[in-house]
Amino acid sequence: MRRIATALSLLLASTACTTVPSEGGSMTAGEPMVSPILTGADAVDSMTYAQPQVARVTHVDLDLALDFDRKRVTGVANLDILARPDAGAIVLDSNGLEIVGVRDGAGNPLAWKLGDTVSEGGKGAPLTITMGNAREVQIQYASAPNAEALQWLTPEQTAGGQYRYLFSQGQAILNRTWIPTQDSPGIRQTWAARITAPKPLDVVMSGVRQGEPEDLGNGRRAFRFVMDKPVPPYLIAIAAGDIDFAAIGPRTGVWAEPSTLARARAEVGDTEEMVEAAEELYGDYRWGRYDMIVLPPSFPYGGMENPVMTFLTPTFIAGDRSNNGLVAHELAHSWSGNLVTNAVWEDSWLNEGVTSYFENRIVEAVYGKKRAEQEAALSFANIEETLAEVGMNAPGTALHHSTDGAEIGSAITYDKGHFFLRTVESIVGRERFDAWLRQWFDNHAFQPATSQLFYDDMMANLVRNDAEAEQLALREWIFQPGLPSNVARPDPAAFAEVDSAVQAYAASSSIPAAYNGWTSAERMRFLDNIPKERSAAQLSELDRQLGLSTTQNNEILFLWLELALANRYEPAVPQAEQFLARVGRAKFVRPLFQVLWSEGEWGRPIAKRIYAKTRPSYHAVTRGAVDRVLGMAG
Ligand code: BES
Ligand code: ZN
Repeated sequence: MRRIATALSLLLASTACTTVPSEGGSMTAGEPMVSPILTGADAVDSMTYAQPQVARVTHVDLDLALDFDRKRVTGVANLDILARPDAGAIVLDSNGLEIVGVRDGAGNPLAWKLGDTVSEGGKGAPLTITMGNAREVQIQYASAPNAEALQWLTPEQTAGGQYRYLFSQGQAILNRTWIPTQDSPGIRQTWAARITAPKPLDVVMSGVRQGEPEDLGNGRRAFRFVMDKPVPPYLIAIAAGDIDFAAIGPRTGVWAEPSTLARARAEVGDTEEMVEAAEELYGDYRWGRYDMIVLPPSFPYGGMENPVMTFLTPTFIAGDRSNNGLVAHELAHSWSGNLVTNAVWEDSWLNEGVTSYFENRIVEAVYGKKRAEQEAALSFANIEETLAEVGMNAPGTALHHSTDGAEIGSAITYDKGHFFLRTVESIVGRERFDAWLRQWFDNHAFQPATSQLFYDDMMANLVRNDAEAEQLALREWIFQPGLPSNVARPDPAAFAEVDSAVQAYAASSSIPAAYNGWTSAERMRFLDNIPKERSAAQLSELDRQLGLSTTQNNEILFLWLELALANRYEPAVPQAEQFLARVGRAKFVRPLFQVLWSEGEWGRPIAKRIYAKTRPSYHAVTRGAVDRVLGMAG
């Protein structure tokens, strides 16, 4: 009871309070854990309708049926609520949900109202429930067939071609399309679920599966899951399909369709070692198991850090583990993002930038300094390219930046965030920096964070004196646009050989014989830096000598197609068409349509023709991104 009281007084804390007592996040056996919220102005999430200081959800219990015929999940969400004594209502997020009815814990009907849906931006509509003194509400509902978080695949869209498949993608604000709760990263909730699915499909979630599935005798099975640690609701995820499991290490494993499983298992074979490396760096892995699922190729991202069950695109499989920075990245989120979470999406560098740094440290530990430095150099090139494009003063280039307006992509949130931490490390030394970052994760575990909190913590627990503070330029890094002059640049030696090969090629079109012995990062550096304008003869020669159009590495194939299409190289059109039909990852799909679109009367008809065929197979995230490129939004 005492902990509840502590949490309640925190909840009621004045809005001036910006810090959270660290005891609020600690766990006591047997007692449900109630995670604190941040109440400062910098922690107010404009993307939620929730009023967490009045009433907030602490636990979500789902009892849902997957209805593949109607592309809906239907059932009940049972919410536990912590509220001010005088709070008579709670406000939830929803988007497109059909609400059938709401009851209190005793089964008495409660009044509810769905507000107007904001058409732009996916904020959806507030669901306000008049709860009186009730602190438990049961919502009977169904998701809409076009719920953006969910993709319902036909058998043809899977590797096996026989069974239907479903997966969800919650980040950033999509889960309100299938779960009626407070969908804000600063409002952590424990959850449990009972999910029924038609046989023979298997179901996995971002929680721990409880026992064997129960055969319901009606052609369906029920699966149970529990997440007993409070998580931001964007991390609730589900996948269902014809999937099998292969163990990697004692606490690691991978799920995939049977025909993909062996390749997937081989590619992620270093995962147990990565978990050990991560723990060595920044403390215990606190989530129990670390499993992954390799999804069908329409998954719109490279990866998603769903707790205990990272979701991965199959397009990272190259046969040589060269794209495993992705696994290191999603694993690192088990600390940066899932343990300590940005309270608002304007601070998503706290998730993604810190993770990109951490990812690089795992890559260094597992694959060595050379590979890590090369990957860091690619990350730095991305910052430089983007800043050259948008300008050093563009407001969106501060780490803390608004989520609306121009899309600057990953260069700031990911790469500038990465280089911020790298710079701090280089100034204070690795030992001090690692000790600081470890305590950051420990002291803010299962809690939200803001840029200001991060800054305050560095000033309190890392920075030794005024001279060091000045040298670090922390406020400039976090709150100012551009790139501070103290940035710890990548080692120019990382790509010395490749960069001179680029120069030789630019000068005399001599194609480097060494290419086939290069690392994946070296090949990417080469393809990214050679002159952008190439004749058909030059492109054909590049392809012939380097085997670009037949590579098994999708990162390389993507760079080739981008270069070729930008030069209106006809033989690349069928290759691009095949790629765009096979792959739904937005990072690949959007830029290829973008290149075609920018090639005017040559490229636009091609883009339209291909998109007419591929659009129905893309996830809503990818579809939305390409619609904007082709001017089809709305
Ligand atoms: N959490 C992100 C994916 C994401 C970001 C989803 C923003 C929705 C909104 C994930 O961890 C990620 O960063 N994925 C990258 C991996 C890459 C940086 C190694 C991706 O998908 O490409
Ligand atoms: Zn990430």
